[in-house]
Amino acid sequence: MEHYIVKGGNALSGEVEIAGAKNAALAILAASIMTNETVTVENVPDVSDIRALLMAIQLIGAHVERLDRHSFRINGSAINKDKPVDNEYVRKIRGSYYLIGSLLGKYCKASVALPGGCNIGLRPIDQHIKGFKALGAQVKVASPGMVVATAEELTGAHIYMDMVSVGATINVMMAAVKAKGNTIIENAAKEPHVVDLANFLNSMGARIKGAGTDVIRIRGVEYLHGTTYSIIPDQIEAGTFMFAAAATKGDVTIKNVIPKHLESISAKLTEVGCQIRESGDAVRVVANKRLLHTNVKTLPYPGFPTDMQPQITVLLGLCRGISIVTESIFENRFKYVDELTKMGASITVEGNTAIIDGVEQYTGANLTSPDLRAGAALVIAALAAEGCSKIFDIHYIERGYEDFPEKLRHLGAEIEKIDDSYDEHRFRFRAG
Ligand code: EPZ
Repeated sequence: MEHYIVKGGNALSGEVEIAGAKNAALAILAASIMTNETVTVENVPDVSDIRALLMAIQLIGAHVERLDRHSFRINGSAINKDKPVDNEYVRKIRGSYYLIGSLLGKYCKASVALPGGCNIGLRPIDQHIKGFKALGAQVKVASPGMVVATAEELTGAHIYMDMVSVGATINVMMAAVKAKGNTIIENAAKEPHVVDLANFLNSMGARIKGAGTDVIRIRGVEYLHGTTYSIIPDQIEAGTFMFAAAATKGDVTIKNVIPKHLESISAKLTEVGCQIRESGDAVRVVANKRLLHTNVKTLPYPGFPTDMQPQITVLLGLCRGISIVTESIFENRFKYVDELTKMGASITVEGNTAIIDGVEQYTGANLTSPDLRAGAALVIAALAAEGCSKIFDIHYIERGYEDFPEKLRHLGAEIEKIDDSYDEHRFRFRAG
């Protein structure tokens, strides 16, 4: 079975280049088929969630041409609008639900299989449906697990989201771009990828204002045209390397980032005693001593991201004193704590709160990734641990991290992806 094997104990040092943002790319690639003209998207991360979305749009008739590892030329003019979007790729990933918004906006008709994605909570889509209905669509959840949305025409509306939802903000924004008249989305999500999608759609001729604030105003347009667009760097990949540097008491410069997007992450690292230096599009994290405890609560942007919660928990598990981590976005995002306990962590979970009594060191163990970010966090724990660890179910990690072992190795980590026992022997021999 494929897994990573990690020999911990090396302080990471050097430079690492961050890829394009997975969650922005999912939204932008789904939106790229809203025009019949050709769209070129650059800085697309080469991760399995993106490959699945590209397969899904190809299977409904979009033409996808790979220009290089990170750039694609996409043309959505030959899409069969009557074909339901339902295939093994769509059901694998959460981001495929963006095809409801994009197809509904373009054709007033969408039939898309219900999203899969990481099992971190219930993840309903009632706010997406509420938004589509407000724009004039009829929406049914038909069996087997299909969302079917249709409209005579879409008309702008004033929509108040009951909670801050990244997915619902993005989906409703896409549908509203081609609706007649004006739409206002209140209590909108402010995440960088919401802004990136709005910028992308505006570069196609959409008229969206206010993305990045909690009120987004959209004036519907009849026509969207082709564009060339480069996706923003991945805030969460960058944050993951920042925490890997801190947990291994390393010195790492994380390049190709937007430091503003990392402020809540940098602030927590400074609080626990790391030195953070920003320069242009890079952030350097230096940790040369045992770090101190702190408390953190996950919140919508610009708060501390839920997608960084497992990574900060792993770090706080090694910090002096008692820390408290409160998860306020998803109800089931502490499943990895049992794995950390195997490594000697002292963490008690009560509801949506983890109480962490920092230990001096983790010890290597056999670990299973329960989801994407928790998987990455377990790799950080293994890098900081004494001895060897194996991490299984790495397909979760590969959904969102491009070349994760290679990038870590470049920083001095001993980590290998193992496909068979021969590889493992070779690693053990090399790592000593
Ligand atoms: C997006 O998920 C991301 N996924 C997630 O990243 C991320 O964890 C999450 O936003 C929060 O930042 C993609 O962008 C593809 P939400 P999404 O709608 O859109 C509730 C990763 O690791 N809610 O902002 O599904 C929901 O249950 C992944 O890259 C409703 O109740 O998240 C949650 O409690 C994992 N009804 C909260 O809102 C709805 O209709 C926020 O969810 C929609 C959401």
